[in-house]
Amino acid sequence: MKVVTIIGSGLIGRSWALVFISGGISVKIYDKQPGLASSALSSIRQQMSELEQKDMLRGEMSASEQLSLLSACDDLKTAVEGAFFIQECVFEDLEVKQKVFLDVEGLVGSDVILSSSTSCLMPSLVFSKVQQQSRCLVAHPVNPPYLVRLVELVPHPLTSTSVMDTAQALMSQVGQVAVRLSRELDGFALNRIQMAVIAESWRLVQDGVISVKDVDLVMSEGLGMRYAFIGPMETMHLNAPQGLGDYMRRYGPGIQRVLSSFGPTPDFTGDQAKDIVKEMCALVPPEQLSTRTERRDQLLSRLAQIKKEN
Ligand SMILES: NC(=O)c1ccc[n+]([C@@H]2O[C@H](COP(=O)([O-])OP(=O)(O)OC[C@H]3O[C@@H](n4cnc5c(N)ncnc54)[C@H](O)[C@@H]3O)[C@@H](O)[C@H]2O)c1
Repeated sequence: MKVVTIIGSGLIGRSWALVFISGGISVKIYDKQPGLASSALSSIRQQMSELEQKDMLRGEMSASEQLSLLSACDDLKTAVEGAFFIQECVFEDLEVKQKVFLDVEGLVGSDVILSSSTSCLMPSLVFSKVQQQSRCLVAHPVNPPYLVRLVELVPHPLTSTSVMDTAQALMSQVGQVAVRLSRELDGFALNRIQMAVIAESWRLVQDGVISVKDVDLVMSEGLGMRYAFIGPMETMHLNAPQGLGDYMRRYGPGIQRVLSSFGPTPDFTGDQAKDIVKEMCALVPPEQLSTRTERRDQLLSRLAQIKKEN
């Protein structure tokens, strides 16, 4: 597990590069557009020096030691040479991804693992043009992966267990937390859960029950306080004297009753949707988005530190 090739040097490609080199893995970064991989390198160097200054660097090595593991290539054949794991990070476009894997398979040995960062395309579609599908999986990161360590590992129907094991070992080596799905499913796990939260939040605001500001407070000052450390299952387990079984005996019927009152899937369009967007933009004007993103990342980094210490 020495060299990883990253294909696509955008937001996620650069983030993966930071994560892999922090765990001592050599990274070759490639982009189809000539010059982009090199400019990604400059941006990663800049990010590294900022992280070091803020004492937010991950891993055991200094920034310069980590950066010495990184190189850029404008040629796909050179980029994949020597790699045991390919992490694809190109546009979320099925045909583009299929073509990338078709090209890569023609250039690498049969033991090289092919992994996609796709957020919502099914592995069986992404890898449909690959001959040897037992070596394929999705490793779906959460943005920004350097600060939010979860990675979902989603198999193609033919992915071998050893490939999933190796991917999991790699993630663990570089400090990410991998969860494994037993089969592919639209939305994987994270987005299915996130979408359930989005749907009910949207309905509550749309139906005039609560404001945009307050629905966000329900999460940031309520549920989210616990969820950064324990998930919904352990939350329930801890909330009844005898644990989860007890919790369900006490609260299960109430949960079922409330769940059966949930409204239909929102369509996120129309005048009500415009009003919700307007309310959000009044709270955080679009020109403040980058400042808010920076604040989010600083807070996430402090949270990551607390989690590391506990
Ligand atoms: N942005 C997120 O929050 C997020 C989170 C998790 C997963 N993802 C997934 O990660 C992937 C990349 O997303 P992103 O936000 O980094 O996109 P991006 O637009 O920032 O970057 C895509 C990069 O891919 C390059 N590219 C396009 N076609 C290529 C090809 N054929 N060969 C090599 N390079 C090519 C582009 O030049 C660009 O640099 C997507 O599949 C996305 O769904 C994104």
